[in-house]
Amino acid sequence: SDRVAYLGAHQAGVTTDRPPMGLVVAFNILATTRADLERLFRVLTDRIAFLTQGGTPPVIDSKFPPPDSGLMGPVVSPDNLTITVGVGASLFDQRFGLADKKPRQLIKMPQFPNDALSAELCHGDLMIQICSNTTDSNLHALRDIVKNTPDLLMVRWKQEGFVPPPRAAGENQSAPRNLLGFKDGTANPDHKDEAEMNRLVWVQHGGAEPAWATGGSYGVVRIIRNFVERWDRTPLGEQEAIMGRHKPNGAPLGMKAEADIPSYHDDPEGKRTPLDAHIRLANPRTPDSRKNLILRRPFNYSNGITKSGQLDMGLLFICFQSDLEAGFATVQQRLNGEPLEEYIKPVGGGYFFILPGIPDKTAFLGQSLL
Ligand code: HEM
Repeated sequence: SDRVAYLGAHQAGVTTDRPPMGLVVAFNILATTRADLERLFRVLTDRIAFLTQGGTPPVIDSKFPPPDSGLMGPVVSPDNLTITVGVGASLFDQRFGLADKKPRQLIKMPQFPNDALSAELCHGDLMIQICSNTTDSNLHALRDIVKNTPDLLMVRWKQEGFVPPPRAAGENQSAPRNLLGFKDGTANPDHKDEAEMNRLVWVQHGGAEPAWATGGSYGVVRIIRNFVERWDRTPLGEQEAIMGRHKPNGAPLGMKAEADIPSYHDDPEGKRTPLDAHIRLANPRTPDSRKNLILRRPFNYSNGITKSGQLDMGLLFICFQSDLEAGFATVQQRLNGEPLEEYIKPVGGGYFFILPGIPDKTAFLGQSLL
């Protein structure tokens, strides 16, 4: 089936399969009262129910604008669409009286040493991740949401991305490539392993977070430009030393297969895998570093060209974890200063709390928060 369930303890779009096309859009909330905030979440719930499950939009008088953009024809097909909603730290300012409900670790995304964040690509009261099989399904969903929330939301920034299809035989069993030409996602935790996802991704009941947040997650979005012209002029051996993996098949340095698990304890001086290789810093694979695992679910992006005539492309990095400090923040801190930085520049993104799921048809998104 190409229909992803939208009801449950968790929102779809986090541990569900990643389809080929994704976009992230961030909004300022225009609502100023708690009642209008609730109306916003109820409208979003209705739109998510319709768009992800599909159906025929209502027909109304031709004197009025059509209720649907018509991008997908008279019948809206689900197309594996998921719509995932998160909230930024700014939602918990004085406007709605929600300060005491703020998830414990939710802050405005800080600037890391290699970042050149541009204000127009960062943060937001609300973030929506839209994923599906096709770009037009994603844009149809985005336009539907925008059309139905004119007095409630204002678009702040948006970034679209894609995942390449499997190429060589057997590649559907392995990770797709990012725009540096390396397989990306190989060492990810298994999103189908429910126990692992409960341990790493979903906020559990009775932990440090407020009770309303149970079943939610911290979502980190980073728009990371890749300097591809420079990368394409870098020797293969250097590229592989920077990443810590072989480029053709994704095997860890000195190993045979992509699925081989690198070990660093027998290579303390970094003779096989440099100590500052991306994967070694990101996951040193010590007993202790298991608690820093994150679920990455990124998309590649390509935006045209920069003012100076360089290709503007990179990684729409997205990751999820129940503990933001132990997860993304710790991993990024370890990566600070890595050799890969010469080829990448984070320019935007934000920290968001992915709301718990919509438990049933009588409920609305964010109900436990309000
Ligand atoms: C692994 C590329 C940014 C965390 C990898 C791998 C590649 C890669 C090729 C190896 C394959 C795999 O296991 O997925 C990139 C590129 C980036 C980038 C091109 C920027 C444009 C980040 C960021 C983080 C991160 C921002 C988190 C702060 C990780 C982790 C692993 C990984 C945790 C798995 C390491 C392991 O368990 O062996 N990355 N990455 N990466 N990356 Fe990145």
